[in-house]
Amino acid sequence: MDPAKGASVGTRVEEQVKDWLRYGEELGLGPYYLDRAPSHSISEPSITETTVAAPVAMAAAAASAPKLTPAAKPVAAPAVAPSIVAPASLPSLFESIDRITDDTLPRIREDIGDCTRCKLHKGRTNIVYGVGNPKAQLVFVGEGPGHDEDIKGEPFVGRAGKLLTQMIEAMNLRREDVYIANVVKCRPPENRLPEKDEIATCSPYLLRQLDVIKPKVVCALGSCAAQTLLQTTQGISKFRGEWFDFRGSKLIATYHPAYLLRNPPAKSEVWKDLQKVMALLGLQPRKR
Ligand code: URA
Repeated sequence: MDPAKGASVGTRVEEQVKDWLRYGEELGLGPYYLDRAPSHSISEPSITETTVAAPVAMAAAAASAPKLTPAAKPVAAPAVAPSIVAPASLPSLFESIDRITDDTLPRIREDIGDCTRCKLHKGRTNIVYGVGNPKAQLVFVGEGPGHDEDIKGEPFVGRAGKLLTQMIEAMNLRREDVYIANVVKCRPPENRLPEKDEIATCSPYLLRQLDVIKPKVVCALGSCAAQTLLQTTQGISKFRGEWFDFRGSKLIATYHPAYLLRNPPAKSEVWKDLQKVMALLGLQPRKR
């Protein structure tokens, strides 16, 4: 593809996401994404435990706005949430983003270029695009690069990354067998969570990567990835370990390895989630 055309496709996708975000705000559904909280310095399951009403309102609004187009007339969200709705039972806003025909991982990287689309570019050393098997059956999605990833230009190479590698190996896979990427590709300053404008700008490239790889399973690591991909503000502990349909793949969310470093007892929960992934992929645990 000619780079100018590629860039305009990227911009169009970005614009679509921004339209959706504006549309959600017009509906009065509240923020789709977490507002800033110190990255993993608080206990992960509690990040948005209080935000159940928003996705419920989103479900009801989605039901009464069948086309969910940015141009549709705003519909009032119900004042009282009838029940808790699993996030992926909603039509994800991202589901309706066009797939790009004949897209490739190198083309997406080319479209990103020496990106200055959001403020994160100011502090980065390297864009952390994603690594691994371009035909992976399993893709892990984290939040954003940390210090080590920014220096190396590769996701999950620091302490949390070493734990992720151990998790992958416990599944009887190697790092090279899977694909690893993040919601944002540049390091947020002081390892803060990515902000919603940064996510809106960068996540379309992640979606394109996922569309090209077409994995059987996407495993969202932590609240940021899970809430971004499922378009919910529900706390991850409400839906971790459940299966969702996501753009032709199955998606499961589990706790972020950085959270496990601070809270080792949660490893058993994560292992249960990974065992579900292994069962779906027909993998046997590694022999000790
Ligand atoms: N945490 C993430 O979410 N991603 C990385 O790449 C590293 C740490």
